[in-house]
Amino acid sequence: MLQESILKGKIALVTGAGQGIGREIALTLAQSGCKVGINDSNRQSATNVAQEIIAAGGSSIVLVHDVSVASEVQIMYQAIVQEFGQIDIVVNNAGIILKNAFCEITEEQWDRIIAVNLKSVFLSCQTAASYMREQRSGKIVNISSVAGKKGGGFLGNTAYGTSKAGVIALTKGVARELGPFGVNVNAITPGFIETDMVKSMTNELRATILGGMALKRPGKPRDIANAVLYLVSPLADFISGEIMDVDGGLMM
Ligand code: NAI
Repeated sequence: MLQESILKGKIALVTGAGQGIGREIALTLAQSGCKVGINDSNRQSATNVAQEIIAAGGSSIVLVHDVSVASEVQIMYQAIVQEFGQIDIVVNNAGIILKNAFCEITEEQWDRIIAVNLKSVFLSCQTAASYMREQRSGKIVNISSVAGKKGGGFLGNTAYGTSKAGVIALTKGVARELGPFGVNVNAITPGFIETDMVKSMTNELRATILGGMALKRPGKPRDIANAVLYLVSPLADFISGEIMDVDGGLMM
């Protein structure tokens, strides 16, 4: 089957892969033939996903690191390259949301959300580049958000939107710089996807968001994983610097 062989033998790293969208991306890449590094700051959830992949006959390594810390990111890449020999695909997915209004957010909260949602992508892309430039190939997908285009989300606030807007600009800049080395860099801006991140949403807010969407239903983590699969596959070899809305027609 196409999906089983399309990425056969490729080495992939997914950050924040212990649950939600990241977990589904990791499982999808494993089903498509990748050996997958499962990063998460939560050891138990990362271990569970890696075990799920191994139980299904795949290869996986658990990488428990906080991706907002430079030294941790370095160690994480060293570990996956030592285990599997190289790095072909990176999906920067780890993220947090903060619901404080702009006028209430503290400096500490601001720094944390920028560190986890934006600085982590800078650190990971830069470290990935050090390997991918040399091998003259690679695919990077950064998970931003429609909130990065709207200047805040339905759930999040200005800080979250700012961090995700930064991911969009970073993606385009890195795509330009790594393109000559055969490395494709793209971003996905998910809309409303059913995960723990959106659990606390009120029914009223839910109805408002669904009302504004063409498809009138929330997305599933699999919807994002399928878009990632396309972008890291040879089918998307001529796509770079693209910011892809996967949002059921929310942003149009
Ligand atoms: P989630 O909260 O279910 O999962 C996020 C995962 O990232 C968790 O396993 C968490 O432990 C991990 N993580 C958090 N900080 C980390 C760190 N510093 N280092 C390593 N791992 C860390 O979230 P969900 O919904 O799966 O979101 C995944 C990505 O998609 C995030 O970047 C989020 O902002 C983005 N997104 C989600 C949307 C949604 O509707 N669920 C919409 C738009 C974007």
